[in-house]
Amino acid sequence: MGMAKSPMEILLNRTFTPREQEEMLREDMEAELDAINLYSQQLSITAYDDVKKALEEIIYDEKTHFEIFRELLEKHGTDEEKARKAAKRELAKILKKNASSHDDQSEE
Ligand SMILES: [Fe+2]
Repeated sequence: MGMAKSPMEILLNRTFTPREQEEMLREDMEAELDAINLYSQQLSITAYDDVKKALEEIIYDEKTHFEIFRELLEKHGTDEEKARKAAKRELAKILKKNASSHDDQSEE
């Protein structure tokens, strides 16, 4: 029983500090972006129309989720302006990537 407690276990006895809450929202935004990237890659290489349609709908939903977390971060973040700008840059990158039919874009 010498297992160290996970950060989540430790947190179960209390609520997030403002700093932790901000970090949580950033992680959630990142998870949505990862999902958007994964589904976009899959969309570009699937041959089935029904799979394409499902992925397109889900990508739309994930963008909505991203927006929800972004707005919450803007509301509760400790550095709203910085967070807002970083989030917009990230989203713009994703949207640009999705609009492009190629997957070989280099980092900016
Ligand atoms: Fe999501």
